[in-house]
Parts: sequence; C-alpha cells; structure tokens
Amino acid sequence: MSKRVLLIIGGGIAAYKSLDLIRRLKERGVSVRVVMTAAAQRFATPLAAGALAGERVFTDLFDESQEFDVGHIRLARECDLIVVAPATADLMAKAAQGLANDLASAILLATDKPVLMAPAMNPRMWDHPATQRNLATLRADGARMVGPNEGEMAERGERGVGRMAEPEQIRDAAVALLTDGPLKGKRALVTAGPTLEAIDPVRFISNRSSGKQGYAIAAALAQAGAEVTLVTGPTALTPPAGVRAIHVETAAEMLAASQAALPLDVAVMVAAVADWRPAQAARQKIKKNKTGLPTIELVENPDILASLSKPGKSRPRLVIGFAAETDAVEEHARAKIAKKGCDWIVANDVSGDVMGGADNQVLLISKDGAQSWPRMAKEQVAQRLTAEIAKALNPKGRGRK
Ligand code: CTP
Repeated sequence: MSKRVLLIIGGGIAAYKSLDLIRRLKERGVSVRVVMTAAAQRFATPLAAGALAGERVFTDLFDESQEFDVGHIRLARECDLIVVAPATADLMAKAAQGLANDLASAILLATDKPVLMAPAMNPRMWDHPATQRNLATLRADGARMVGPNEGEMAERGERGVGRMAEPEQIRDAAVALLTDGPLKGKRALVTAGPTLEAIDPVRFISNRSSGKQGYAIAAALAQAGAEVTLVTGPTALTPPAGVRAIHVETAAEMLAASQAALPLDVAVMVAAVADWRPAQAARQKIKKNKTGLPTIELVENPDILASLSKPGKSRPRLVIGFAAETDAVEEHARAKIAKKGCDWIVANDVSGDVMGGADNQVLLISKDGAQSWPRMAKEQVAQRLTAEIAKALNPKGRGRK
C-alpha cells in the first residue's frame, strides 16, 4: 500500500522549496496531502501546491466545507507521517506549547502519527533560547528534525544555521521514517569521528579518524528504520538525512551525550576517542621559551564503550565496539570484549590505509564466533553490520524481512 504524507507548509521564504518536496515525494510513490498556514499562502499559492499534490489543499480550521468534508481530526490521522516544512519559529512554538488556534497547529495537537519537522528561520531566531527550548520540548515529545542547514540566508549578507534542509534531504528523512525496515521502532546510538582534547585555547590532542565508517553505519541503521542518534566529534562530513546528530568535541562531552541518548536497543561505538587528555587545559595560550619545553601531564579519558556496557537496567540490548589493531587482530579483539563488557567487536586491521580511506576490512567477533568479511567499501560494511544487528534484535521467526 502506498504511504501517505500530510505536508504542513509554514509561512517562510523556504515555502517555495516545499513545492519541490511535494514533487519529490510523489516521485517515490508517496501520496501527499497539503495543509498551508495563512502565512504560507503569502509565499506560495494553494493553487500551485494543489496542482502538484493532485488534490485540494487544506487551509482553514473554520471553513465549513473543509471541516465537514474531511475535518482536522481526520487530516491528523489519515496519514502515515506528518512533515512540517518549513517549520517556522512560530509553528514550532505553537506545537511545543500545544496551541491549536489554526488548522496546522490543531492537526499537530490532534495527531497520533510521527512528525518530521524541517525548521527554517533566521539564524538569530534559531539560536534564540526560546526556539532552542521549543526544539528540546518537541524532541522530547517525539518529533524528528531534519536540518536546519548552515548557509546563506534570504536576507542579504546573513549566514548561519537556519536554512531549511534541501527537498531531497527532507524526502530522504521522510522516506526513512515511512520505511518498514527491519529496525523500525528500534533506538540506536552511533558514536563517530575523533575527539579533541584541549591543551590550551589554541592547541589540542586528537587523531586521524575521518568519521566515514561511523557516519555510514548511522545512515544504514536509519535506512533500516531505526531512530538513530549520531554523537560525533569534529569531522568534515555532513550527517546523513534522518539521523539526529549531536556535535561534541571532548570524550567527556561524548560520554554525556551518549548517556543522554538512553534508552537504546543498540549502541555502536565507532568513535576514535582520545585515550588521554591533558590533566588541565591551560586557560591562556602556553608561551614558548619561558622555562624550557612545557610538560603536558595526561589523564585517562572515561571509556564510553565500557560505561554503556555496564550490566544494569539501562544497558542497551546490544553494545558493539570497534577495535583498531595492527596485529593478532582476533586475539586482541576477544580480550577487548572481555575487558569492556560489550557484545561484539568489529575489528579492523589498520596496518594498511583504513584510517580515512574508503574501504575497510573487518572481522566481526562475538563471544561465540567470528566472521571475517572481505575488503569492501565502508558503506557495505555498514549495510552488513546493520543486517547482523537486525538479526540479533529480531528474535527468530518474528523478524521482518
Ligand atoms: N572507546 C570508547 N571510549 C574510550 C575509548 C574507546 O568508547 N575512551 C571505544 C571506541 O569507540 C571503540 C573501542 O572503544 O569502540 C576501542 O577501544 P580501545 O580500547 O580504544 O581500543 P583501540 O583503539 O583498539 O586501542 P588499544 O588497543 O590501544 O586499547
């Protein structure tokens, strides 16, 4: 059966891009019913949206013919997903507060379907504590977000975070939410990239992790229908669509963000967490030649993998670590499972050009077995690992294809 999206178009300059979104969703066989706020109609016409959707557009909570015909409760329920694009600051505030004084907000309050929002606003409005509060509330209420992106604003000369995600990005996030993948309803955490530990305000300790393997795993899990949180250190990559990305720098921040993502069904710790950090980050830049060479005292960072693996009520059902080894790969990996308490280790042989490269060759090791996979692209490693995760989380016979 084809999937149905209710698209709520909010009043912002990005509304014109939502017309393209209608077309792109329909290309994927998704049927689209459109609701426009009063402000949205100042930026794009219901006629254009209706022509693209192939059916009338709904605009008014108090229009008798619209209310008798379908009604806001039916609009809110007769779909598989609600997409709000652009989600303006005003619409987000209304939804966060539970206001229901127009058709769009009444639908958002009345629905029992998943909601995906694509925020779009001026960067100052996005950064404002009120909007950030509303964002946190909406997330806690279960809304999913795509974007906003960084870039040029419609207002001349302004840049920053606030641009609506591109239609393709929103479509991909929507399709991922509509897909009945084998991990639908499962919550997943992926850590990725390096961490960065300050020596002083300008210097730091880090490593060569590119984040590619972790980002690919986050993307594959999302495609399989999981609700994915990606906690990432600084990388040059764009987080995959449909994934909730949390950007951190230090191991301590990565640990806090990972714990905040609980409860989880699966945690995949791909990050190359710096093993040590300077005992104290100097408040001022350390100057040369004062008293000879500086000594940097190091202390050990918390082990995020071990911390999430601790037995207890909040332990994810499946905890997977990565290991970078140059020799005796399986033996070291087994020792790591025992030491950290995780369920599986994906061991890669980093004696070649794996760090930063496009390919990976891994050994998947659990307490009771090992599989050696041929060298393949990191995306394929991600697909295959996702398939193994789906098998492990869906007990025999109940697993969906
Ligand atoms: N890890 C972590 N927190 C740390 C260190 C590591 O979560 N502070 C996780 C990594 O994300 C990875 C695994 O633990 O999943 C790697 O373990 P680690 O002990 O760092 O192994 P290696 O990097 O292989 O190094 P070594 O063999 O030196 O222990």
